[in-house]
Amino acid sequence: MALQRPKGTQDHLPDGSPKLTRDVQASAFTHVQDTARRVLERAGAQFIDTPLFEEAELVRRGVGGSTDIVRKEMFTVYYFGDHGGYVLRPEGTASIVRAYLQNGLKQLPAPLKLWTHGPMFRAENVQKGRLRQFHQVDYEVLGSTDPLVDAEAIWLMWEVVRELGLTGVRVKLGSIGDPTDREAYNAYLRDLFKPHEGRLSGDSQDRLIRNPMRILDSKSEGDQALIRELGVRPMLDFLGEEARAHFEMVQGYLRDWGVPFDIDPSIVRGLDYYRRTAWELHHEGVGAKSALGGGGRYDGLAAQLGGPEVPGIGWAFGIERLLLALEAEGMAFPGAEGPLLFLAAMDEENVGLAARVALQGRRVARVEFAYRALKPGNAFREADRRHARYAAVIGSDEAARGVLNIKNLNSGEGREVPLAELNAFLEQA
Ligand code: HAM
Repeated sequence: MALQRPKGTQDHLPDGSPKLTRDVQASAFTHVQDTARRVLERAGAQFIDTPLFEEAELVRRGVGGSTDIVRKEMFTVYYFGDHGGYVLRPEGTASIVRAYLQNGLKQLPAPLKLWTHGPMFRAENVQKGRLRQFHQVDYEVLGSTDPLVDAEAIWLMWEVVRELGLTGVRVKLGSIGDPTDREAYNAYLRDLFKPHEGRLSGDSQDRLIRNPMRILDSKSEGDQALIRELGVRPMLDFLGEEARAHFEMVQGYLRDWGVPFDIDPSIVRGLDYYRRTAWELHHEGVGAKSALGGGGRYDGLAAQLGGPEVPGIGWAFGIERLLLALEAEGMAFPGAEGPLLFLAAMDEENVGLAARVALQGRRVARVEFAYRALKPGNAFREADRRHARYAAVIGSDEAARGVLNIKNLNSGEGREVPLAELNAFLEQA
């Protein structure tokens, strides 16, 4: 058997491929990226790109040492049998904050809105919608603590969903409070779980020491049963006055703008850098545990990475998950378009001329040509297979007179166009 791709990765395939499903359709990917780009650029977000691998220390400090991502899911980069402490990035936020600090982006007008898209890597247990290489669209805003920025970020996610035409999406909104609120909550959780420590999974016993909140995020059935049994109070009960006021304002804006949301009093995100506003978007077609996207405020992250205090907030969508949601809603969208014009020569002497005419036409439109001479019937069949709108065959008569006989493949109508006027024809076609 020929070599296979690694587990948990996907090939993005051209339209018409025999194994095509929506979540691997390259043109569907581009459609989602383009939709997000349009929404984000209208909001003033600028594109940024960072390396696919980073210092492991950046991820450890950024994402957090108690998270599953850092403890179990890191891809380490080896070269010459050695590794220089690099990992493949599991997400984009820590990298973007690093780039902001390293490149002096603080000089740019604040709040600075940035966006990116690209592959992320997590060595997860593979299942539907859970991959080892997946793709995110990511939006980050640096330099503001204003709740208006939080609400705008959530609105933008909602707007991407709306522009994609998805209807079955729910926003779950919560707050993780300020660091002192979280300390109080962690102290409460430690006291609550300590007498039942023996019933916790090994991982959660470790979480009890490092970061008890992470127990709530546990994938172990036993842990989840204990959480239900103990009737754990939600994080939201522990919000201090300032975090509560901030949270109220975010909700006020969202109501005002008609963005529907449900309060999730015990939202737990899988990354440690969050404080205050945190949210996730869910879709019934993707599964209860699989968010379409999520985000939150991370005012302490820049300092955590060794920089000055820079407040920030952002979100990321999983593109594969958006595609699964589009599939679940039975959304049809057109695949890649075919060429406007397909050209073929009827005899060997004119193959070069057909190619030259096609190259000229490409200045204004998508034009393809046959690499060998074809009989007219075959030429029109080839044009059809490529979903071309027009086709033309060039024989010695057309070559001598400097004209093309262009056939509209929908209506069957033919029309003679002088070569010198081809581009004008293509422009208005
Ligand atoms: P996250 O919740 O870890 O947040 O990931 C965001 C989205 O990426 C998820 O909701 C999901 O759609 C997708 N995703 C995550 N893991 C996988 C996977 N293994 N397979 C397929 N899709 C996946 C972040 O990454 C934060 N950096 C978001 C953020 C930006 N927060 C602030 N700024």
